[in-house]
Amino acid sequence: MSETFQNFIDGKWVPARSGKTFENRNPANQDELVGAFPDSDESDVNAAVAAARRAYESWRLVPAPKRAEIVRRAASLLEAQKEDLARLMTREMGKVLAETRGDVQEAIDCGFFAAGEGRRLYGDTAPSEMPNKAAYSVRMPVGVCAMITPWNFPMAIPSWKIFPALVCGNTVVFKPATDTPASAAKFVGVLAEAGAPDGVINFLTGGGREVGAPLAAHPDVRVVSFTGSSEVGRVLARECGTRLKRLSLELGGKNAQIVMEDANLDLALEGVLWGAFGTTGQRCTATSRLILHRPIAGVFLERLVEAARALKVGDGLDPSTQVGPLVNEGQRETTASYVEIGKKEGAELVCGGEPVKGPGFDRGFFYRPTVFAKVRPNMRLAREEIFGPVLSVLTVDSFEEAIHVQNDTPYGLSSSIYTQDVNRAMRAIRDIEAGITYVNGPTIGAEVHMPFGGVKDTGNGHREASHTVLDIFTEWKTVYIDYSGKLQRAQIDNH
Ligand code: UN1
Repeated sequence: MSETFQNFIDGKWVPARSGKTFENRNPANQDELVGAFPDSDESDVNAAVAAARRAYESWRLVPAPKRAEIVRRAASLLEAQKEDLARLMTREMGKVLAETRGDVQEAIDCGFFAAGEGRRLYGDTAPSEMPNKAAYSVRMPVGVCAMITPWNFPMAIPSWKIFPALVCGNTVVFKPATDTPASAAKFVGVLAEAGAPDGVINFLTGGGREVGAPLAAHPDVRVVSFTGSSEVGRVLARECGTRLKRLSLELGGKNAQIVMEDANLDLALEGVLWGAFGTTGQRCTATSRLILHRPIAGVFLERLVEAARALKVGDGLDPSTQVGPLVNEGQRETTASYVEIGKKEGAELVCGGEPVKGPGFDRGFFYRPTVFAKVRPNMRLAREEIFGPVLSVLTVDSFEEAIHVQNDTPYGLSSSIYTQDVNRAMRAIRDIEAGITYVNGPTIGAEVHMPFGGVKDTGNGHREASHTVLDIFTEWKTVYIDYSGKLQRAQIDNH
């Protein structure tokens, strides 16, 4: 069953001005059309930004607790539709139903959390250095925000950005990835139904060049928030840099799980299977490297290979499936190309390394969970983000070497260590260069009320989720009120 979807501009569902559309198909079965979507261009971008700009003038004056009520209602509507939304998401991008339910749940959690912020948005009050003078700071909205989001978390990631931005008093133009426009359209529909005034949330589908680039470059867009590849992140950073525009980036990862000789190996095995092959490896938090302490390396690898071979690959709607398809042919080709690179570099392919063939698999982008052993830190396999079900195993001789290898990557999003030694755990927390460190848990599983983001090439210093997201979507205003009735010169008259 397929639907025809539209853009949402100034409170109305409309086609692209050109009338063009593109199709989106189920990655588990290319014969199944999910929907047709507007293939928008710059003229649609201009209309959406103009609507957001107009709406901003009144939206910024709506009290934050009132704005938050709309977000809270949207979260309740998502909750009521959770199952349908999860099914649509699995058909649209392939990950298994348990995970798409989790994705919708993350958006619900984020909505309730952001709504609470409507009654906080705390600033500081401090004594003035002068008599009869008050000093405090408030968070102000910034203006029109462009949200450009990826396909791997079609609802959770937009919710991290859009819900808090709206509570803060900004208006939004939202462009989702072309692989997941249906989930995004449902998300926007829920906000409209919850009572977002016309122009407060606008939505455009289409390509990065045709929609994303003109949107980010538009002079009336004050904030660009992007989650996706480092390659696109760098282009946006250049664009926004010349225009002195605020930019929040959440880019790649090359996350590692360390397993020390004293670890609970059953737990570590469960953790790495979930971290590496959950979402078919298509998370920026995915476990892409496994760092094994030599005394347990042999036995752990053996158990890992056996368990990875036993994972059931298939259509994510089938409740017995553990690993769904990759999102599209390009992603499968990238995965296959890294398998070739790994072999050429001299790593040892110990399981997987090929597409799944046979009845039920030929119309989808299925790939076997893949493990490479004997990976060295300087190999591309150990350094570059793959975004597929490929795990690189490295072996180390000491805790110090484990930390060194963990940090020996351009990225720094998530990280994990399995150990029962509290001293090692505490040193790892201190020394690992990453935005997130898990102890005795895999690299995936971030919660919405804690800061999310990474160091080094993973981003540009911002943290989404938590209250830290407010720093992306607000400007500080400092206020001084002098009630002395005379000119008081700070730093001068009181010295
Ligand atoms: C992402 O991989 O892009 O921590 C986001 C996690 C999820 C979010 C992942 N809650 O894996």
